[in-house]
Amino acid sequence: MARSGTGWTGKTKMSTMSAKHAILGVTGSIAAYKACEIASLLVKQGVKVTPVLTKSAAEFVGAASLEAITGSRVIKEMFDSSTNANIDHVSVPLSADILIVAPATANILGKAAHGIADDWLSTALLVTRAPILFAPAMNTNMYEHPAVQENLRTLHERGCHFVGPDSGVLACKTVGIGRMMEPPYIVEAAMALLYPKHDLAGTKVLLTTGGNHEPIDPVRFIGNRSSGKMGHAIAQEALNRGAEVTVITGPAEVQPPEGATFVRVQTALEMGDALLERFDAADIVIAAAAVADYRVDDPATEKHKRNGGSMTLRLVENPDLIAEAALRKRQGQVVVGFAAETSDVERNARAKLAKKNLDLVVANVVGTADSDFGTDTVRASIIDATGARDELALMSKATLAERLFDHIVAMLDKKRGSPIASP
Ligand code: CTP
Repeated sequence: MARSGTGWTGKTKMSTMSAKHAILGVTGSIAAYKACEIASLLVKQGVKVTPVLTKSAAEFVGAASLEAITGSRVIKEMFDSSTNANIDHVSVPLSADILIVAPATANILGKAAHGIADDWLSTALLVTRAPILFAPAMNTNMYEHPAVQENLRTLHERGCHFVGPDSGVLACKTVGIGRMMEPPYIVEAAMALLYPKHDLAGTKVLLTTGGNHEPIDPVRFIGNRSSGKMGHAIAQEALNRGAEVTVITGPAEVQPPEGATFVRVQTALEMGDALLERFDAADIVIAAAAVADYRVDDPATEKHKRNGGSMTLRLVENPDLIAEAALRKRQGQVVVGFAAETSDVERNARAKLAKKNLDLVVANVVGTADSDFGTDTVRASIIDATGARDELALMSKATLAERLFDHIVAMLDKKRGSPIASP
């Protein structure tokens, strides 16, 4: 097949669907500078981060760095005109899926244990109903002090979560317990609370999504109505479960989620190039794109001029991208396709499963009010060689993505003979 360039590769800047929301409270410890790394790792996982600096934390870490990393304004003061003061300390904590305090000083632990609300962060700790994760950091003597230990016990009994502290060389040059855990461990603990199903850690997911634009001339193309919503839901679910996600996206309304690496393409041939180039490295390959089956044989290099008569376009068939890629499927790889059908949905889907050498096919109805390109819901069955699940049940695209990965993980476990990763 003729191959052209694979387009621009980059990271998404914006997600148009909701991601999980973490408040990252930073308190005044020398470890506060590590908050930037924590924020960055969370953002890479697709989490929206609202950074909060206490007064003393602001002495250790710059708000500008946290704002650049998270793309969110740093909350510093209770009465800050830029944060709509009267509402933010209630609405922001209520909208959060987790409140992380890292580093957590003896002071904030004491305030949290005793219900003292004298600044934004301590107030948020009382308002939120989301899980709270503390990453304590302090001198060994402070950590071992009975008052601090009592506060830790109280918070633990109330259901707060802790990561660390670790032992090692402390800022005061003594060696002992009290070092904040390193950022990757804090983020891992946060992700486990945000996403109890974190079963794709260390797994590479490759996804095609969107449609294609097949050029007629430099200004016109043949396209389809693919919105990219299903692909977005799949990519978000894979990120949620800890996978490394690469999205090859054709033109679509919805951008891939934050945290995914993406490759932007226009035509089916470009999409095929990008897919083949990355196929071998992936553990799971999912073809959710509505690939253009035909392209214009010989697109004009100059804009067509109206000439008063009719015009004929000769179309030639594009290759079947996923079928061609799946010829290279290796042991342990799972390849999934979609079958968008208007009639005989499951029978047609089964035929595609066999013909394209797929492990799973998602049979989905298109062309109805609740199940189509652009809808948030879908009527779908997940089909493998042994049978069908869900029997064209109506569900959100996010739920379908979750069920699909449940099925894929079970399949991978079977292929590998052991779980991918324990949560
Ligand atoms: N697909 C592909 N390359 C194509 C056409 C489809 O990789 N040229 C993939 C899609 O991404 C999807 C699956 O194959 O995972 C089925 O796509 P679908 O459009 O339902 O079916 P087609 O194979 O195009 O067959 P038809 O249009 O005749 O139903």
